[in-house]
Formats: sequence, structure tokens, C-alpha cells
Amino acid sequence: MTVSCVVGVQWGDEGKGKVIDFLTRGVQWVARFQGGANAGHTVVVGGDEFILHLIPSGILHPGVRCVIGNGVVVDPRALLAEIDELGRRGVRVDGRLLVSDRAHVVFPYHKAMDSLAESGAGEGQRLGTTRRGIGPAYADKARRTGVRVADLYDRPVLEACLRFNVRERNALLGSLADPRPPYHEDPDALLEEYRGLAEALRPYVADTVAEVHAAVERGETVLLEGAQGTLLDIDYGTYPYVTSSNTVAGAVCTGLGLPPRAIDRVVGVLKAYSTRVGEGPFPTEEPGGLGEHLRARGGEYGATTGRPRRCGWLDAVSVRHALRLDGVDELVLTKLDVLDEVETVRVCTAYRLGDRRVDHVPAARSDLAAVVPVYEDLPGWRATTDGVERFEDLPREARSYVDFLERLLGCPIGLISVGRRRDQVIVRGARD
Ligand code: IMP
Repeated sequence: MTVSCVVGVQWGDEGKGKVIDFLTRGVQWVARFQGGANAGHTVVVGGDEFILHLIPSGILHPGVRCVIGNGVVVDPRALLAEIDELGRRGVRVDGRLLVSDRAHVVFPYHKAMDSLAESGAGEGQRLGTTRRGIGPAYADKARRTGVRVADLYDRPVLEACLRFNVRERNALLGSLADPRPPYHEDPDALLEEYRGLAEALRPYVADTVAEVHAAVERGETVLLEGAQGTLLDIDYGTYPYVTSSNTVAGAVCTGLGLPPRAIDRVVGVLKAYSTRVGEGPFPTEEPGGLGEHLRARGGEYGATTGRPRRCGWLDAVSVRHALRLDGVDELVLTKLDVLDEVETVRVCTAYRLGDRRVDHVPAARSDLAAVVPVYEDLPGWRATTDGVERFEDLPREARSYVDFLERLLGCPIGLISVGRRRDQVIVRGARD
């Protein structure tokens, strides 16, 4: 397969970093196509933990070329800090990292607006964003007041854009800001700073559409790295408690410039239970002891913000919705080991809404908030899966859980992750 796309099929944090790292063996390119520094992809290499926010996880493999596509919103401060941090830890990115000249830039006023919306929002309006300026940056893109990477090198254009944006944001943020002192940005200082950041980024900036097309034409293997998860998609997720980009696999077309037929295979990453960070409906949430157990065992704290993640059972209704939207060919099941001590494993197979049984994710917010999960219970395995290398060697109940999910979701599970390390992956053989 030349071009594969990896996407999360829940609310993000499915363990995509590790899966992409695993799948990158033998791959020549890894490309991001949406999101920004809100992502936190964790990879553990020989006991060392790397958390990547903007740079594709493939950068940890020497020789792999990494692309930040036009659909990503790029915070130059965050990107340069990430490049420096990787350099300090012995990972060189020179000649291997390409940043799209069409990607939109995140400025400090985007982050200020994001934070203000979060802290100033009324009860029930807070989204629980990562405060990385993602929503306001995509809003500027849609409003056509955004600045693209290429504009950073065109002084008159950059100056005009910043003057307009800063004046508008100073007025807005100044009038709303609380606590005092009100937000104020100096457009001249911002212009100079971003001209400097642009120079530091210059070696990486490229026409990534041309580069990726040329790679595909040469028959090179490309892995497309989704960020967040399908249930955070701005169109299909639990709106408005979503991120501001399309996270479905189809976003590759607009976020990287590859046509639909270029994608040969879509791999969905599915955690053995559910988590979500931030606000919004979560029908299978377990706020009590079980949720705390999963959080502690699974280390369920945001990789970007450190916030505790909300935890609960796997929700097959919303996962089926995601599999359809993404066109998933094959699933990778992650963090199966986190369920090792659980007595009974529950899976939500349908919702109940009033006296109706519902098999889909409702669009109306109040319906989504009101659905009650219908569960099927399976026996837990109460045994360690740590160190297991072959599917046959998993406890019987763990195998039954995997088989049950395959049947319920109608999708093969080809890989199973049973620990944080790179090598803790079970490759499942072909089945009848
Ligand atoms: P934003 O993307 O920072 O605007 O945040 C919007 C919602 O998406 C919030 O609920 C965030 O917690 C969530 N979110 C954003 N990025 C990630 C991620 O990489 N993993 C999990 N949740 C995320």
C-alpha cells in the first residue's frame, strides 16, 4: 500500500502516536493534514518519552521525511520550540521537515481569544479547548482574514494583515478582558517578531502539495497522520464540543492536496475503552471508581494540557459512526492492558432515547445529552497482558473481547497494543 491514512475513531487520545510510530517502519513520508499544536502524540522510544504537537510522529525514525500540510494551523513559536527540543534530544529535522507555504499561522491574539472565550464563557458554553488558538485561527481562515506561511515573507502583506487583525482584536479583547489589565498587542513588535520567526522557519517551508504528489508518483510510501479523533470533527462530531477542523480521513484531500483516490488504506485507531478531555456529551462516561481506575492505569492525562481525561466504556454506536465516515479498512486496538484488572467489561451497543432505541449518533445537542447507553457485559480476564506477543497467548476472555468488537463493529482488528513501549504490539494473523 502506498498511501495509508491513520485516524482516531473516538475523541482523540486513542494512542495514535504509538501506532503511527509502529506503522512508520518501511515508510518514507509521514504527513499531518489538520489540527495544530492542540495535538499531543506520545511515543516512547527505549524508555524516553516524546510528545509531539505539530511535527509528525514519523520524525523519530531517521530518514523519514515529515510534512505539515496546508490544512494544519501552524504556531511558529510552538513549532520552533519543538524543533529545538528534538534537536536537544538528538533528533535532527534538517532536510526532513517540510511545512506548507499554504498553512495558516497561529498568532498570540488567536490564543488570547481562545483563552478569553474559555474563561469568559457563560455556564454551559465552555468547550474545554486546549487554548492553543486553534478555533480563532481556523475562524480567520474561513473569514479570509488569516495569514498563511507564504505571507510571512511578504512584508507589505504581513504588515497590512497584522495591522487589521491586531487593531480588531485589541478592541475586542480590550473591551472584554477580565481580569485587568486588558489585552493589548503591539502590531509593530508582532511584525518584527514574526519576521524573525519566519526566517528561522525558512529552511522548512515548501510547496508541500508538489512534494507529496511527486513522492506518490515515484511510488514512495506515505503515512497520513490524523490528529484529534473523528468524534471531534467539526461537522460530524459532538458539535459544538469539537475541534475546529475536519478530522475525518477525507480531510486529507483539502488538508494536504491529495485527491480522494490517492488514499489506498485507512487505519482506525480505537482505544479499548473511551476517554474525552474537555466538555461535551459522553454517554458511556464513568465518573466514579471505574473511571478513576482507568485514568490511573491508563495514565489518562492530556498530553498537551495535563488535564485529567474523562473515562468510560467503549461506545460502539459512536465508533460505528466514525468507521463509516472514515471508511476504515482495519482497526488497531490500543491499551487493552488497561482493562487487565476489570471484572466485567461493558460495551455500549445502542442508545436509549426516552422509550426509543437508537443506533446512530443524534445531531441535536439535547438528544445527545439525553441518550442512555444500552450495555452488553463481557467477563474480564483479570490477568496481565503485559509481555504477551502473540494473539493466541492473550487470556481467553481478552481474545473474546477483541473478537466481539470485530463482530460488533464489522471491521478487522489487525494490531493490538498492550503497553506503552514501541515493541508492545501484537500483530494478528489473517483470519478466516
Ligand atoms: P481545541 O481543538 O483546542 O479548540 O479544543 C476543542 C476540543 O477538542 C476540546 O474538547 C479539546 O480537549 C479537544 N482536543 C483538541 N485536541 C485534542 C487532542 O489532540 N486530543 C484530545 N482532545 C483534543
